[in-house]
Amino acid sequence: MTRHYLMCRPDHFAVEYAINPWMDPEAGADREVAIRQWEGLRGVYEELGHRVSLIDPVEGLPDMVFAANGALVVGGRVYGARFTHPERAAEGPAYLEWFTSNGYTAAREAEFTNEGEGDFLTLDHLVLAGTGFRTEVAAHGEAQEFLGRPVVSLRLVDPRFYHLDTALFPLNGHNVAYFPEAFSPGSQEVLRNLFPDAVVATEDDAVVLGLNAVSDGTHVVINAEATGLQLELKRRGFEVVPVELAELRKAGGGPKCCTLEIRG
Ligand code: ARG
Repeated sequence: MTRHYLMCRPDHFAVEYAINPWMDPEAGADREVAIRQWEGLRGVYEELGHRVSLIDPVEGLPDMVFAANGALVVGGRVYGARFTHPERAAEGPAYLEWFTSNGYTAAREAEFTNEGEGDFLTLDHLVLAGTGFRTEVAAHGEAQEFLGRPVVSLRLVDPRFYHLDTALFPLNGHNVAYFPEAFSPGSQEVLRNLFPDAVVATEDDAVVLGLNAVSDGTHVVINAEATGLQLELKRRGFEVVPVELAELRKAGGGPKCCTLEIRG
């Protein structure tokens, strides 16, 4: 099934502050390499037949490449992001402005802190929502009211997996892959109850951001280094499309972080 993704070319990408344990401003990152790797990801989506829209990168916003954080779009309704850290605050209005100027009239500025699809992942009948590091629980309720979809709160406990999309991804509309230890005991139980048939990832796959993957229900675009998880996905009948995004991982991001899905 064809998807519509919003992406932002990493023209101003850099690691110049540290707001998660992956970021080391001393070591920095190579922008040219990041751009090349990002172009590879974009090319993969186009080869798979997906539609890719682009938002203009803004100078001074080095993390803007992580489009997933810019909003949550379900059924054509756009729930805007409100970032936790001042370094990224200006991205919220920039993404919202893209949607309003592209004809998305049902767009809403959030009252509560939330980082868009970084912490909200949409399945057919529910939205999974992370909290603990970035998105406030109050935003889960706000999103549920605005979208009219049930939102299930999940608590993240490991700072390496600070966004829900670093620890879990939907395989399709009704099943997920995830790394259990990234979640509180109660949230692990919720996930076991909701998804008895989930793909359970190992720490080796999680620490290369293997769970920051994008599935269209058939193909899974996933970090090349997550080899164990790739094997299990193939065993389950998915077509695995490995991508090389190591330079963006220096900021704590992978394929999913670079991808905001526009639904409806
Ligand atoms: N450096 C960014 C941050 O810490 C990375 C964001 C990654 N995005 C994501 N959807 N997990 O905010």
